[in-house]
Amino acid sequence: MALARPVVFGNWKMNGSAADGEALCRALAAKAASGLEGTLGVFPPAVLLPRAGAWLDASPVLLGAQDCHGEAKGAFTGDLAAPMLVEAGAKAIIVGHSERRQYHDESDATVRGKAEAAIAAGAIAVICIGETEAEYVAGETLQRLEAQLAGSVPDLATAATVVVAYEPVWAIGTGRTPTNAEITAAHGFLREQLVARFADGADFRLLYGGSVKASNAQEILHLANVDGALVGGASLEADGFWTIYEAGLGG
Ligand code: 13P
Repeated sequence: MALARPVVFGNWKMNGSAADGEALCRALAAKAASGLEGTLGVFPPAVLLPRAGAWLDASPVLLGAQDCHGEAKGAFTGDLAAPMLVEAGAKAIIVGHSERRQYHDESDATVRGKAEAAIAAGAIAVICIGETEAEYVAGETLQRLEAQLAGSVPDLATAATVVVAYEPVWAIGTGRTPTNAEITAAHGFLREQLVARFADGADFRLLYGGSVKASNAQEILHLANVDGALVGGASLEADGFWTIYEAGLGG
């Protein structure tokens, strides 16, 4: 079964001391103590995963990891395998983030292998795609999304094992977002592609990511085919992140 809407995930990226992480996790756990109608998740740096699990305690806040290797084990110094991340408490793993594609030269095939590894380890693969600014300006957004979706999402994907995050590269950390019409067009296109390829394509969760914050979450999270958000900077502060989650409730 797909995750309950809204799905709001916080990607901490390479941020968060143990003290910061503990305060954030404990604050979110307290807010979620009486239960969650949707899905709220945090994706701390891997070294904090076991402790984050303890800080979240028995709360329903989902714990996830950022990136994994495509192999389950082996001679890959410095890398982390999906089964290790799952053993450390991760229920979901972000793969194909544009920062990995850009700074670590990850191809669609690499991302697909990582997604397969995450799923094989029992985690949900959160697969990120998105056009660059040059592609956006050239009007090539949908072609880029079509190619990335086809290349990065494995054939064995289901709505229960894969979440797709649309993150325009130019909107990440910039304070700029596409127009509502552009987000609606991109998500509608992704939905069509998923429905054409997968029997349960209508149920896949589609997240928007890129400069989501408390002040724009309400309008973005209620656009057609937007099931939630993948939040970077604004996920590092508990009240603001919780406001984003609450903005997605209802409808
Ligand atoms: P910002 O929310 O900081 O723009 O980052 C988005 C992102 O990359 C989440 O994965």
